[in-house]
Amino acid sequence: MTDSPPGRLIALEGVDGCGKSTQALLLAERLGAVLTFEPGATRLGTSLRQLLLDRDEEAVTERSEALLMAADRAQHVAEVVKPALDAGTWVVTDRFSGSTLAYQGFGRGLARSELDRLIRFATDGLIPDLNVLIDVPVALARSRRSSTRADRFEVQGDEFTQRVVDGFHHLAAEAATPWLVVDGSGTVDEVAAAVWDGVRHLVDLRGHDGR
Ligand code: TYD
Repeated sequence: MTDSPPGRLIALEGVDGCGKSTQALLLAERLGAVLTFEPGATRLGTSLRQLLLDRDEEAVTERSEALLMAADRAQHVAEVVKPALDAGTWVVTDRFSGSTLAYQGFGRGLARSELDRLIRFATDGLIPDLNVLIDVPVALARSRRSSTRADRFEVQGDEFTQRVVDGFHHLAAEAATPWLVVDGSGTVDEVAAAVWDGVRHLVDLRGHDGR
């Protein structure tokens, strides 16, 4: 028996309300991959997520926020992502390092070089094989967000969201890591088809050629 090849990591990214959670689920089902998310996929992460999203936590500074996201990611990588990849399992994650660069970097204004160092520390150097950006305009994202109580990020308003959208575009245009940009303004099925088409072309799918 040959060793199973290491799994692949695909991260779905985008602003709140872009539809990436639905697309992450559909892609994971199609690939037979483990579906996971940030922040909050581990026991420690559940507590961190609560601190991060609670909008009564007004005193969280930008640096604290970045560190809490990094702590969540470190635990997530060590407990969930890395063991799955090492076992040859594919992983689809709803948010990963790209969200820190877009939200804490472009959104909050923290320095890119410092965030890069923080991310490298948290992930021990693990980077996704592919980032998929579900791209929607700010107004559409706002209209799609659930009407239940908005979290600490969702109360930030359109200017913040626009900086995050611009940030994701900036990241996707860099050659440093692979990004697939998908227009997220269509129906769920249309967007899923575009995601699948891009993933098929950009990731070596041997053994995972769809269901
Ligand atoms: P998410 O779980 O996608 O939100 P929802 O449950 O509303 O779909 O993400 C929670 C928030 O955390 C989201 O507003 C983006 C933010 N976030 C960051 O700011 N930085 C990060 O590194 C991550 C992973 C998330």
